[in-house]
Amino acid sequence: MKTNGHDATVALGGKVQGFAENDGAKGTKASGEIRLYAVPEPVMKRAHVSGMSAYEELVAEAGADHSAYWARLAREFVTWKRPFTQSLDDSEAPFFKWFEDGTLNVSYNCLDRQVERGLGDKVAILFEADDGQVSRVTYSELLARTCRLANVLRARGVKKGDRVVIYMSMSVEGVVAMQACARIGATHSVVFGGFSAQSLRDRMEGAGAVMVITADEQLRGGKQLPLKAIVDEAIALGGCDAVKDVIVYKRTGAKIAWHPSRDHWMHEATEGQPDTCEPEWVGAEHPLFLLYTSGSTGKPKGVQHSTGGYLLHAAVTTKWTFDLHDNDVFWCTADIGWVTGHTYIAYGPLAIGATQVVFEGVPTYPDAGRFWKMIQDHKVTVFYTAPTAIRSLIKAVSANDAAHPKHYDLSSLRILGSVGEPINPAAWEWYHAHVGGGRCPIVDTFWQTETGGHMITPLPGATPLLPGSCTLPFPGIAAAIVDDIGNDVPDGQGGMLVVKKPWPGMIRTIWNEDERFKDSYFPRELKGYYLAGDGAIRDEATGYFTITGRIDDVLNVSGHRMGTMEIESALVSCTELVAEAAVVGRPDETTGETICAFVVLKGPRPTGDAAKKIAAELRSWVGKEIGPIAKPKDIRFGDNLPKTRSGKIMRRLLRSIAKDEPITQDISTLENPAVLDQLMERN
Ligand code: WT7
Repeated sequence: MKTNGHDATVALGGKVQGFAENDGAKGTKASGEIRLYAVPEPVMKRAHVSGMSAYEELVAEAGADHSAYWARLAREFVTWKRPFTQSLDDSEAPFFKWFEDGTLNVSYNCLDRQVERGLGDKVAILFEADDGQVSRVTYSELLARTCRLANVLRARGVKKGDRVVIYMSMSVEGVVAMQACARIGATHSVVFGGFSAQSLRDRMEGAGAVMVITADEQLRGGKQLPLKAIVDEAIALGGCDAVKDVIVYKRTGAKIAWHPSRDHWMHEATEGQPDTCEPEWVGAEHPLFLLYTSGSTGKPKGVQHSTGGYLLHAAVTTKWTFDLHDNDVFWCTADIGWVTGHTYIAYGPLAIGATQVVFEGVPTYPDAGRFWKMIQDHKVTVFYTAPTAIRSLIKAVSANDAAHPKHYDLSSLRILGSVGEPINPAAWEWYHAHVGGGRCPIVDTFWQTETGGHMITPLPGATPLLPGSCTLPFPGIAAAIVDDIGNDVPDGQGGMLVVKKPWPGMIRTIWNEDERFKDSYFPRELKGYYLAGDGAIRDEATGYFTITGRIDDVLNVSGHRMGTMEIESALVSCTELVAEAAVVGRPDETTGETICAFVVLKGPRPTGDAAKKIAAELRSWVGKEIGPIAKPKDIRFGDNLPKTRSGKIMRRLLRSIAKDEPITQDISTLENPAVLDQLMERN
């Protein structure tokens, strides 16, 4: 195989196919011909999974005996206290169990094991604060800090299986809080700092949390944002009587309200605690964490993850997808409030003994060169971020060339990653050329909160790349595209993305909602396959997957997952003003999608300044109900919503109106065509 990026002949799916490349038209699809980016020779040479044949061998191994393949990896990647004797138990499908009689501890695997392997003095976390201050924490120190906090949790009566909510800024302390829960077998539920008191309350109540770990404030982009005050407000809303203690990390030292019977400073509580703490050895199926995420109905789902299977998936995907070696410096820019921050900050990199950067701030502060400066300063080798960040930085560069990556030395980079939403080919090409200097493969990783880790992704030393495509399933992931009765659709024809076989990192259930778990992910008509909720299409020549977007009422705004029904419920809960609301997504060049709300007020339909004023009020209402990330960008008012004669809201029509598109749909079944003109008016 030639590897100069001008010609690639690769074996895919057992078939050998040739791809010619013309200069200036790399990695694009033109006149039925597909041009791929070849795997760069130096990347292939040192890769854990080196070359397409190595990838295919793994796929064949999993194909021959799925559960034996995962059992082999579980023995290689995880240290067990008591080894498991059975790999997959599917007797109660879809409640699958993996490695069930094995016992282990995640924090032991991430910390003690690295120290025992001689990595005690290796930097585990290189933390850069919002203001640029840098601190380094070694594996030994991280272990000691985790043990001290774990001892505090135990001393305050937190037991195995208890739930602890973590509402924290991006910090070493946030990672320590998650690891400390894992150490004592407490199930954590991290809530993103951008959620409101109401959302936090709902999640605390849903999880039945006994403790909250938070910070006085978070510091992002030079701004101080309250956390502890929101925890107080959430508890005051009621329903969280189980919460006995609030542990507060002092980040900014701001003045905060204090409840002596409930609140404890983290630094005071951990002082004098021993640096050691016996891990709680738990069964492989013990719930390591819950993470609430949006679904197509109003109420967020508490996605429940396991201990053994999850840790395995985190460790093996971190190692293979990012091809991490001992001297790499990995940086995942996600927040620990999302699943990416769980799997690729708090667990995966530590489980394989890597050095990683943890960043408190935002990509545009003090200027839009911040990411590039940090890559340069810390000699980052593997960089993992979201398309929305890339697109906003491209925009920043066009406004001010000083933020262009070319002004920084990014030669340390080997591999780039993308996550959270589809990456459009133009953003991919820019990322590849200007950040990766044309030499770094981009792994476009498709996965979900529910999947635990990567599902469909290139492996950098094996998979030729096609911009905009997440390429091929991770070895051991039985991804497929089917129609609405579960039959395979031919390549080149779109359908629903499913996973035909269980995998170790998968969601175990929705917390306290087993039936909803079955209905949402294993609908009867789909032959027992896992339904991802995304549409996908597979290319005929390469077998590569491209994700075409959600097939349910879930939006993706700047990589944040939001349910349209959730926002609608928030709007109509403003009972003083709102009679009815419908929310749809509008494609957006930078954020992927934006939120558009169509609202019918109880009073007369407002226009002009009055409409603007009410729209602003409703925006801040949604901000209070859910969080600033859910505020609709565009709010429009009508005397009614477009409905069919049977009263069904015509959402497809609303999506066209939101895009300011001429209406081409058949509106003959529309009962009230007069409202269309009203809804086209922007405020
Ligand atoms: C949804 C899951 C994956 C962790 C962060 C988001 C979309 C995610 C990709 C990708 C196209 C993607 C899907 C998916 N998505 N990654 N590489 N290409 N779409 O996790 O909040 O659970 O959202 O994000 O629509 O279903 P999440």
